[in-house]
Amino acid sequence: MSTSIDEIIRNLESIHNTLDTFEFREIQHNATPTELVALNEAFFGFFFLLDSSVSAQGLGSGLDSKEQSAWNLSRKQMADQQRVIETFLSTNGTSTLNAPGIAALAWEGEKVIIVRDCHISVIHSLQFSGASPHWVVPPLSDRWGITFPITPDELDDVLAEHQDSKGVVVTSPSYFGLTSDIEGLSSVCRKWKVPLYVDSAWGPQYFATSSLGFPPAPQSQGADVTTSSVHKMATCLSQGALLNFMNQKLVNRFSELFRIFVSSSPSYPIAISVEHAINELAERGTELWTGAVEITKWLRDQIRKIDGFDVLDNEIVDGIRVKHLDPVRLAIRVTRRGITGFEAARILKEQADIDVELATRDLLLFLFAPPDSKQDAEYLLSALKKLPYSTPLGKSRLTATFPEDRPLTPRQVLSLRKRRRVPLSRASGKICAEVLASYPPGIPCCVPGERLTEELLTYLEHIFQDGAHITRTFPEDNGQFTSVVVLDE
Ligand SMILES: Cc1ncc(COP(=O)(O)O)c(C=O)c1O
Repeated sequence: MSTSIDEIIRNLESIHNTLDTFEFREIQHNATPTELVALNEAFFGFFFLLDSSVSAQGLGSGLDSKEQSAWNLSRKQMADQQRVIETFLSTNGTSTLNAPGIAALAWEGEKVIIVRDCHISVIHSLQFSGASPHWVVPPLSDRWGITFPITPDELDDVLAEHQDSKGVVVTSPSYFGLTSDIEGLSSVCRKWKVPLYVDSAWGPQYFATSSLGFPPAPQSQGADVTTSSVHKMATCLSQGALLNFMNQKLVNRFSELFRIFVSSSPSYPIAISVEHAINELAERGTELWTGAVEITKWLRDQIRKIDGFDVLDNEIVDGIRVKHLDPVRLAIRVTRRGITGFEAARILKEQADIDVELATRDLLLFLFAPPDSKQDAEYLLSALKKLPYSTPLGKSRLTATFPEDRPLTPRQVLSLRKRRRVPLSRASGKICAEVLASYPPGIPCCVPGERLTEELLTYLEHIFQDGAHITRTFPEDNGQFTSVVVLDE
């Protein structure tokens, strides 16, 4: 797309008329600083032009039941393109879809099986619905310091023991790009007559790119519901996301619950950008992603040759536990070079102005996308080569076991309002009132209603000292990790 301001302005009218959209990212990426000032004016002008009111006839919204509204026609088109029976559009991310989506499987007093390496919005869903989670802790890889998926056989055992459960929730791909055997998991779910909900927030492009070695879309592998944070991996404004259904029975329940979360004043710029991104993927997904896949492959091969780095690659795909590895997610273990991932990320930022997607104690994670070029990859490679080199570090502290005593559900904690902050030294044995999550291992280490253990608190303290960021519900701890909010019993 051209970056000429005149062209942008000339395009605005036709864009507005056709409700087609515009590649914001490419414009911003390609602009020079002087262009940016003018771009700001064009950009905001453009935004306001698109940002129509819900009162404009025919546009519709997420609360709208008129089949012929632009909103609903757009949903229908995107469902067809992704080959699902229905799709719901969120202008507030997958987070707002997970809450009613998982609640559509199980409500208050009902049981839902959840693999523990889930996003925080899955826990928020439990707080909303009152459903009782049965957590399945996925295996932790000692070598990589990350979680691996569960196998169909493991799920079969869990469902045999919990035949009263109303559904299963798994996250696939994981943050590091590992996907579960969705076909196998869904056939186990069919055997036990429960729906499979796949939080595939990081794979919005999969429906259009499997010929490039991306994993197949989970909706094509038997999943009943799948998420898609379109904004994460496609040309779409932040917060544009979809929830896809292959199971008509869940659609009505979901629509009823989703209405609670939907604004009556939708953001049309976000909605249009989702439609644009899905269109673009459907029409030229392979062409769009070929370069990013090739660049990542090239970089993987180069990094493998450098002493001190280990690259997560297809060797971990065993077809049973790990079904695929997303080809544009590049995880590098740096500890044999004598530094932690946190230190490496800081050095890359300070010395080369490189932002990593994620750093853990052991790893650096990079994501590649269509705008990235071979020059970008070469620049990264040369910065990685300059990282310091000293005595290799030992294994990471990946020894956390999660609390097994769960006197209350997350929702029960929410309704008991008395909380107090206690120092870590006095927190063991208390019922946690907040979510404590970190990378590694990418799992909510403690959720509201679980009894804190000495072992978990020590683990969290250690990884915090190693440089891990701990996401929590009540962060006011002066940036430190010295206390935790518990239920005042
Ligand atoms: C697995 C997973 N699900 C859901 C979400 C939430 O997505 P969003 O940022 O679109 O709200 C994330 C965000 O990173 C995620 O990693």
